This record gives sequence, structure tokens and C-alpha cells, in this order.
Amino acid sequence: MHKIILTGDRPTGRLHLGHYVGSLKNRVNLQNSGEYDEIYLMIADAQALTDNFANPKKVRDNVLECAMFYLACGIDPDKTTILIQSEVPALTELTFYYMNLVTVARLLRNPTVKTEIKLRGFEESIPSGFLNYPVSQAADITAFGATTVPVGEDQLPMIEQTREIVHSFNRIYGETLIEPKELLPDEKLSRRLPGIDGNNKMSKSLGNCIYLDDSDEEITKKVMQMYTDPNHIKVEDPGKVEDNVVFTYLDVFCHDEDFPKYLPEYKNLNELKAHYQKGGLGDVKIKRFLASILCDVIRPIREKKLDLMNNLDYVYDIVKKGTEKANIKANETLKKVKTNMGINYFDDENFLKEVKDNKKN
Ligand code: TRP
Repeated sequence: MHKIILTGDRPTGRLHLGHYVGSLKNRVNLQNSGEYDEIYLMIADAQALTDNFANPKKVRDNVLECAMFYLACGIDPDKTTILIQSEVPALTELTFYYMNLVTVARLLRNPTVKTEIKLRGFEESIPSGFLNYPVSQAADITAFGATTVPVGEDQLPMIEQTREIVHSFNRIYGETLIEPKELLPDEKLSRRLPGIDGNNKMSKSLGNCIYLDDSDEEITKKVMQMYTDPNHIKVEDPGKVEDNVVFTYLDVFCHDEDFPKYLPEYKNLNELKAHYQKGGLGDVKIKRFLASILCDVIRPIREKKLDLMNNLDYVYDIVKKGTEKANIKANETLKKVKTNMGINYFDDENFLKEVKDNKKN
């Protein structure tokens, strides 16, 4: 079977390390695995507007920004089609037809939507566009015939709803849509990187992010502020590595090769942890070590992005060409959908004939 990936992000701000370990790195690996026949990466500006409708500039300002982060992280436009959601009209049309297959009660039960309604203070009056965004996401996924949707855990309810819509559609109108499967990041740890303050989510609104274009100085400053073990006050005190953000990050980013380079007194992370737990190892030392490692991770991304910022015509062109290609694919699906729903009047030579025959009877 043809293997197709579709995934995307709302363009609402700079991308950070949480995005990198939770999705970007994984997407680049999937892209380079050679296992997929088609890969679509969508800048979900229309979805971003469902909770930023009053602030369109924020969305507009982040569309090419998002594309630059993709390219800077290793997305290759020859292998991955980057597209802008709102510039693919078939997605909106599909959404409208899928809405018939979903009840308001079902939308209100979606756990991610539920959390977001609280977070956005929408309890009193929920914009219907916002409530419907899982349906629009089902349109995104099915329009490209995606078999695989690489996402974080918070997106599982969207995939579940997409499968329900696919089932209903195929049952009522005949086999048309392809059922997608989610693909979660491999390592359990990488699914969610905590913020520098220890909050379990790195998020712009919490102000606890390390951005993928932060300078070495900014990275180092943020690492120095990281939450560690509040009871590890003096260097001699035994320290905890669990729930200690520095160690959580080291678990994700540190490799044995980093020790000879930056901390030759230790062979590996286990040795470092053991010393910290025993006492006698200060926070500043482990923070300096982590800062060096993170600077190495972010530096090439930041530099590539700077390059791209000086080549904006190139970035614009990639997104425009990608969107053109995406339109061809999504229009094929829309055509199938409309045909199977029997609303393809001008493409269907039988339509007029049927009406005439009916009239005769
Ligand atoms: N909801 C996703 C997010 O907030 C973005 C998104 C929109 C998406 N459409 C998608 C992700 C389709 C996967 C597939 O990050």
C-alpha cells in the first residue's frame, strides 16, 4: 500500500526545543527513512485562526517563519511538500461535508478541545469554528490520503475523530476515504520536554521555552535558570535526578561523546548522575555541561535559519510550489468525495439524463 504522511503545526510563534524533540526531529528522520511515498507538512494557518481570529497578524507573521524552521531543521523540499492550509480550498469544502457526520456532543467530548476551551476562556461562548477544528483536521488528513500522522499525544483525540469520520463517510457514501494511523515519537521521554521552570509543558505562554533560534548567550542564561532539585542547596548535599529538569534534558540530548569534549572527569551520564545523587556535584557544573550540549544542537539550526532569512524569495517559492502540488492532491480527493456523494453535477454526464428520465415517469 502507498504510504503517505501528513502532519502540521499552527503558525503562532517561534518553534522551540519542545517542538524539536516532540516532532521536528522525528519528521526529518521519517523523511529520510525512505519508507514513505509522499510526505506533506502543513502550515495550519486556518486552524491557528480558530483561536486567533482576532489577531490575524500573529498568524500571517508566522507562516514563512514556520517554513524556515522546518527547512533549518532538515526538512528537504524535494522529499517533503510544505503547504499553507488556507491556500488549499478543497480542505474547507471537505470540512463542510464532514460536519454533517459529527455531532456537537461528540465535539464537546474531545478531551483536547475540552482542555483548550478552558485554557482560552471559551466556556461561556465557544466559537463554532473552534469547536469544529477537529473536523477540519480530519479534512487535512483525509484530503492527502494520509496513512500515517506523526503527532504528539495531545493530538490522539483528533486522529480518533478522523477515523470515526472516515468510517461514517465510507459507510454512507461508499469506500472513499483512507483510515489514518497516528505515529507517536519513539522514546517515551521525548514525547514531552518540560519547560525550563519544570512545568511539564514547554510553551510560549508559560515563558519557559528555549527557542530553536536562541543565541548561545540566551541558551546559557536559560539553562542557568533551570529548575533542579530544590533541596540540593550546598554542593555537598545529595541531589535528586528525578524531576530535575537538567537531568531530564541530559537524558534526551547528552551522548557519551559529549563527556571527553565538555566534562572529561566523567565517562557517561550514569557516572554523572551517581555523583550528583551522592553529593559533591554542584548545579552550576551540570548546567554548564547541558548549556554546551544545547548550544551544539541549536547552533546549526539557528545559522541555517539566518541563511534562509537572507533568502526569503527561495523560502516563499518552496511554499508556493508545495501548495500548488498539495492542491492537485486535495482536489483529487474532493472530486472523489463529491462524486460518491452525488453532488458532482457538472462532471457527471448522467445527471441531466436522470432528471429528464425522472420527469418522464
Ligand atoms: N492540531 C495540530 C497542532 O495544534 C496542527 C494540525 C492541523 C495537524 N492539522 C493537522 C496535525 C493535521 C496533524 C495533522 O499542532
